[in-house]
Amino acid sequence: MKKIIVNGIIVTAADTYKADVLIENGKISAIGHQLSREDAEVVDANGCYIFPGAIDPHTHLDMPFGGTVTKDDFETGTMAAAFGGTTTIIDFCLTNKGESLQNSIQTWHDKSKEKAVIDYSFHLMIGEINEAVLNELPQVIEEGITSFKVFMAYKNVFQADDGTLYRTLIEAKKLGALVMVHAENGDVIDYLTKQALEEGKTEPIYHALTRPPEVEGEATGRACQLTALADSQLYVVHVSCAEAVEKIAEARNKGLDVWGETCPQYLVLDRSYLEKPNFEGAKYVWSPPLREKWHQEVLWNALKNGQLQTLGSDQCSFDFKGQKELGRGDFTKIPNGGPIIEDRVSVLFSEGVKKGRISLNQFVEITSTRIAKLFGLFPQKGTVAVGSDADLVIFDPTAERVISAATHHMAVDYNAFEGMRVTGEPVSVLCRGEFVVRDKRFVGKPGYGTYLKRKKYGEDTLKQQETISIQ
Ligand code: URP
Ligand code: ZN
Ligand code: ZN
Repeated sequence: MKKIIVNGIIVTAADTYKADVLIENGKISAIGHQLSREDAEVVDANGCYIFPGAIDPHTHLDMPFGGTVTKDDFETGTMAAAFGGTTTIIDFCLTNKGESLQNSIQTWHDKSKEKAVIDYSFHLMIGEINEAVLNELPQVIEEGITSFKVFMAYKNVFQADDGTLYRTLIEAKKLGALVMVHAENGDVIDYLTKQALEEGKTEPIYHALTRPPEVEGEATGRACQLTALADSQLYVVHVSCAEAVEKIAEARNKGLDVWGETCPQYLVLDRSYLEKPNFEGAKYVWSPPLREKWHQEVLWNALKNGQLQTLGSDQCSFDFKGQKELGRGDFTKIPNGGPIIEDRVSVLFSEGVKKGRISLNQFVEITSTRIAKLFGLFPQKGTVAVGSDADLVIFDPTAERVISAATHHMAVDYNAFEGMRVTGEPVSVLCRGEFVVRDKRFVGKPGYGTYLKRKKYGEDTLKQQETISIQ
């Protein structure tokens, strides 16, 4: 059935204007004034913005990690994402050394197929490069997985060596993929953590103290240099500190094809959270860790001036009870990660737009448009335009709420932003023209979300390395 959204203010990465949106067959078929309402369901968006559905480029759903499995799977995770205004996620498909890439990808299809309530795609982890992997990569690209992830940390678990990163960069350039890195120096972290444990330093705060900003800055700089050498393209995930921003800015200033993502937790939480009593600091254990507060301003400025371009959630949720608690008496056993998928957009709007740190159009660029362009989804996703999927968020910019585990939709038993007051909230969310959330109530269906084959890196996105205007 046709739908027409009336009286809303459309916001894209470039424009803000009042117009109605006509939806037919899951796509936006017209934008304008006095559009025919014949046979159409009329949806009133008076007083609200209409944003393109947000895209989360960084999630870990149903993922085994740290001796346990993330609490949110593709059903609860995508449902929570939808409540937060996200209509597409790109999840990380893990691989195991010696196992075929196709097996790993099939595992991720099996995890997601009947469960996702919004659209989804996968990045593929590259842990080793050998003949078998090289032979499989063209098929991976054929299947629309056009981004590869290399971990420079998590020694003896996910960490790849520099040779693997370098060869991945070379292959990515040949095949049309974007290489993503978790940039921390895993060998140095391994040394520092062993030393801390030997000295009896076992509390959550030592997770942060054994992964100082220098190890992130060093790995980020190394990844940029290897990208230059390979004449390739790089996306640095979850940037947390000034040292890493500096390396990305330096690379971009030299004209390198390097991009950076940060996450809400690094923008609004700080290292002192790891010192909460009764082991509650474990709730705030991420890698990279939360930093001293002054880094937040650097990250906000980097988003504003285009040195960082995207916001991911790095959703990787574990219950406090029974999961984070695995690390009582040994911080290295605390599963790393947190529940952010639901509040990513709200936190950026409230702390960013409402507080004047970024513009409304930058907010759309950072949460949706730039991500669609980098990951081969534009213009199907990432904008409000005729012909694009009708992935739309009707957003009330004046609504106030207090974030809490008591009201969130994630499966996990705490919220990292507990008690934080935010302004602005998605009221209704549509994915391909169907309501997933309507008037703040879930009306979607597990299995509705479809797998998205993505285009090659840079394909018909004109020029990725265009100047991002300072607004
Ligand atoms: O602590 C984190 N970030 N957990 C998720 C896995 C990763 O490194 O992205
Ligand atoms: Zn990571
Ligand atoms: Zn992650």
